[in-house]
Amino acid sequence: MLNFAVQIAREAGGILIDRLGRAQVSHKGTIDLVTEADLAAEELIIDRIRSHYPRHAILAEESGASAGITSISGDSDWKWIVDPLDGTTNYSHGYPCFCVSIAIERAGRIEIGVVYDPMRDEVFAAERGQGATLNGRRMRVSEVEDLNRAMLCTGFPYNVRERPDFARDFTNFTMSAQAVRRDGSAAIDLAYVACGRFDGFWEDGLNPWDIAAGILLIQEAGGRVTDFRDAPLDIYTPKVLASNGLVHKAMMGVLKNS
Ligand code: IPD
Ligand code: CA
Ligand code: CA
Repeated sequence: MLNFAVQIAREAGGILIDRLGRAQVSHKGTIDLVTEADLAAEELIIDRIRSHYPRHAILAEESGASAGITSISGDSDWKWIVDPLDGTTNYSHGYPCFCVSIAIERAGRIEIGVVYDPMRDEVFAAERGQGATLNGRRMRVSEVEDLNRAMLCTGFPYNVRERPDFARDFTNFTMSAQAVRRDGSAAIDLAYVACGRFDGFWEDGLNPWDIAAGILLIQEAGGRVTDFRDAPLDIYTPKVLASNGLVHKAMMGVLKNS
């Protein structure tokens, strides 16, 4: 199943690369958008899953009439959670930071996670209990212990204009970490925590398809993922704090008013 998930993530990534710079954009809201490439990649992934695993449920970002949480229900306890293009705004500007994210959940527990970055041809993959890999090599979170030495990442959801508190957290982390980045693809941000490029990540306003794969990558790479209050995370929790485990408490301290 992991190999199959990697294979369809690669195929979908091929679609994204083919259409880069040419995909038509439609607006879901003032700053929220969707491109033809999101839809084509999602269609391919859903077709493949349905033909190989016809009884499995699928939760995919773009499938609902209003792009809300729509689950194509199945009659087994397996569910695929798919973001066909994470980083759509980047993609529509030709900024090369976007990916395909695919997770497989069984009876409410994520068992497999794959994030594929087609620009760098990087496959981040994990299976519960089996560790996590980057292009087939074991990956681990970083060993940075001090927030002053930590490179962090965050993101802003599409309703950022109604949420001035984002600016406060961003400022507070900028004043307490070595550096803060905002790369525009939550799934890549989480994969980068898992492989040690980032030491921590926080964001409020995420959806299950943004984080399902990334959570397992981090857990299997030895890191920690919770909500902002240190409660265990389920994928329907919008507030996500992820780290190498060592800077987790310090990050929670910075977020204490959020
Ligand atoms: C978005 C990206 C972004 C995050 C937003 C997400 P999309 O997903 O992951 O980094 O800040 O909250 O909605 O729309 O590009 O799939
Ligand atoms: Ca997304
Ligand atoms: Ca998306």
